[in-house]
Amino acid sequence: MKIEKNYNLTKLNTFGIKATAKFFTEINSEEELREVFNLPEFKNNQKLFLGGGSNVLFTKDFDGIVVLNKLKGIEIIEENEKNVLIRSMSGVVWHDLVLFTVEKGLWGIENLSFIPGSVGAAPMQNIGAYGAELKDVLVSVESYEIKTGNKRIFNAEECELGYRDSIFKNGLKGEYFISAIVLALSKVEKKNIEYRVLQEHLEKNKIEVKNSKDISEAVMSIRKSKLPDPNVIGNAGSFFKNVFLSKEKDKEKIKELVFNYPHISYFDEGDFIKIPAAWLIEECGWKGKKVNQAGVHDKQALVLVNHGGATGEEIKALSEEVITSVFEKFGLKLTPEVNLI
Ligand code: EPU
Repeated sequence: MKIEKNYNLTKLNTFGIKATAKFFTEINSEEELREVFNLPEFKNNQKLFLGGGSNVLFTKDFDGIVVLNKLKGIEIIEENEKNVLIRSMSGVVWHDLVLFTVEKGLWGIENLSFIPGSVGAAPMQNIGAYGAELKDVLVSVESYEIKTGNKRIFNAEECELGYRDSIFKNGLKGEYFISAIVLALSKVEKKNIEYRVLQEHLEKNKIEVKNSKDISEAVMSIRKSKLPDPNVIGNAGSFFKNVFLSKEKDKEKIKELVFNYPHISYFDEGDFIKIPAAWLIEECGWKGKKVNQAGVHDKQALVLVNHGGATGEEIKALSEEVITSVFEKFGLKLTPEVNLI
């Protein structure tokens, strides 16, 4: 197993931030993963498992070992007339898994097309888009405890999935490496096209949804029109989470916001009202703004971008300015979705 020193991570994070890792190695199989657990460089240092690098911001060099996840493979492990259980290794590119399923005519993750990153990151933050989230289809997560190297399988409930959240970001943060996931998908049509932006796109382009691939393609074209391609301009998708206010507990706050900002954009989410962070940021005048080489994307205010050569510190500083101005104007606290390292 090859261990490299002072490894350049610029190409391994979609922000394109220049940073190095003190030690670096990659794993191509579960055997290699088990070997990693026994390496002195692993045992005696901070550890960071990296997948697609699409949800991290390096604010400094990493003084530890980075393990690049290249565990590949997708298999159908069970099926009946209606459903299919699919197991995917965590190093698979998420969108490749989506393509695999839509090519087979399966329903369940087509709305999650084109989300950057690897399969392993999906349960970590319960990825979601266009009215669907991983939570809707996740059956189990296979993992290894980093301290002991012991294998553990979590069922969906044990993962405690919430909005962009899971036990792996909270109580068990940094304790488990996700090696594979199992999803339950449907062979029977399960169209999910209620999400406003998706519905509008289908109507405008007169698309009649006949299979999951039609939705996948629609989602891809919406994403392409709004979200910057990390190969062209560094970014990590949404930098912040949306704001959820409880209809009960935050009643007064909601009233105050609607009174002061009658044009406010919000969405009804059961017991909660969702206020798009993008709207709050745009209202503060940040959309399309540039500070040094860091910026707020001009088509989606939720996305921070690296205009070329920005440092992680610069992006972080911009994010803090955005948080402060949203707080001063609306009294709402934005939290980053991206992991700051
Ligand atoms: N909006 C603005 N200004 C903007 C963009 C959006 O005011 O520049 C407002 C509009 O009112 C719009 C609303 O925000 O109707 C929602 O916008 P959009 O549908 O683009 O979704 P979002 O809430 O901003 C979330 C996810 C995205 C996901 C989209 C689509 C989070 C943090 N982000 O964004 O996920 O693609 O929904 O479902 O929940 C990601 O996580 O990296 C990501 C891109």
